Amino acid sequence: MKTRVEYSSKLMSMKATLSVIGCGYLGATHAACMSSLGFSVIGVDTDPTKVAMLSRGELPFYEPGLDTLLAQEVASGRLTFTTDFASLADIDIHFICVGTPQSKDSLAADLTYVKSAVEAIAPYLKDGALVVGKSTVPVGTAQSLRERLEQLAPQADLAWNPEFLREGFAIEDTLRPNRLVVGVTNDRTEEILKDVYEPILALGTPWIRADLPTAELVKVAANSFLATKISFINAMAEVCEAAGGDVTVLAKAIGYDPRIGSRFLQAGIGFGGGCLPKDIRAFMARAQELGAEQALEFLREIDAINLRARQRVIDVVRGDLSDDLTQYKIAVLGATFKPDSDDVRDSPALDISAQLHAAGAHVVVHDPKGIEPARKRFPDLTFAESVNECVKDADLILHLTEWKEYRALDPVLIAGLVKSKLIIDGRNALDRELWRSAGWKFHALGRSD
Ligand code: UGA
Repeated sequence: MKTRVEYSSKLMSMKATLSVIGCGYLGATHAACMSSLGFSVIGVDTDPTKVAMLSRGELPFYEPGLDTLLAQEVASGRLTFTTDFASLADIDIHFICVGTPQSKDSLAADLTYVKSAVEAIAPYLKDGALVVGKSTVPVGTAQSLRERLEQLAPQADLAWNPEFLREGFAIEDTLRPNRLVVGVTNDRTEEILKDVYEPILALGTPWIRADLPTAELVKVAANSFLATKISFINAMAEVCEAAGGDVTVLAKAIGYDPRIGSRFLQAGIGFGGGCLPKDIRAFMARAQELGAEQALEFLREIDAINLRARQRVIDVVRGDLSDDLTQYKIAVLGATFKPDSDDVRDSPALDISAQLHAAGAHVVVHDPKGIEPARKRFPDLTFAESVNECVKDADLILHLTEWKEYRALDPVLIAGLVKSKLIIDGRNALDRELWRSAGWKFHALGRSD
């Protein structure tokens, strides 16, 4: 990547300042990364506690490397945070990075935050200002926001620039993405965005110009495809279980075909998090509004297969222990929806833990980063600060989030702590032979014994 000094974009030579509206996962990452490219960045958020933390260079969530980058950019003076939209008055380019969670009463996305971000910034938009949406939104949202801006601030323009970052790889995916997609309605807007992303484009990153609806659709189509891949392999796991096959061997074998590819074929308890589940549901809801519900009928099945994976692991637990779980201690390794994150939103691991707890089992959960957020969500669960404490006297270990430290556990040492040497690998990530050779009864989803 070019260094800051070599960076030649027009915006940079004008010392352009960018704003980032919404400083959650996406916004905080985008703000710190844009600052690291040399821009001055003002992040704005309505939550004063979050703004105070970020202003001190402290990250309110866990993301590898982002804490250091944030602290460094805040210390450089280029990156600041505020709750005051009026501070954005002189800025040319504003990125909207607020959340679009699932609505409380339907499958649709809740657009309250996106809409209020546009309302809040509108009075401060200068002549020629550009508002760039990055949040994941139902198709048609950008056009309706554009129409709203025409009423509130006709001097400004709006573009959509979906984000594809994965938790755990947020910096890498922002600064070295595998593509940049921009939904624009004119050449000037495209040129401005090319200028913003010049150092990233200089790496040879593919640039895709689209219209507004296509840009919005690219994002949900990508997440739907990823969800489909995961549910496909989990469906194969179900068939393997019924037929006596091994889904891990099957995944490896089909993955060698480059048309299929081996990634996102890890069978287990399925997908969770703040994106895939709510995005496929919001996509179905939007398709229905558009009269295209039949086209996305398959996503209903993708969702069902995914939720069934959680139930299947509970069935294996009952099969291994008993229908009545009240006498058993179950040690759960992992609470977050995936490793290298402290995010427990729609976490399969936590959902399974809560269901086992509700069924009367004594569930003790460990996670390297997610205990506090998990405790907030499920205060009735018991949490352990160490793996040893978690597994002590357990009748069963359930491995539900594939943190590196769990793969490094020594089954011989752990055997000395538990009541029964019984483990279920809900992520197909542990070395089965290693555990078996240490005398463990080892079960995994999609693998016959
Ligand atoms: C996902 C997409 O991968 C990003 O490209 C997208 O930008 C992001 O959503 C978003 O919309 O903001 P993320 O939610 O961080 O990113 O997580 P993923 O890495 O996609 O994993 C999602 C879930 O699928 C996790 O629970 C993971 O454990 C599960 N998974 C993943 C599997 O069960 N099997 C696999 O083979 C892969």
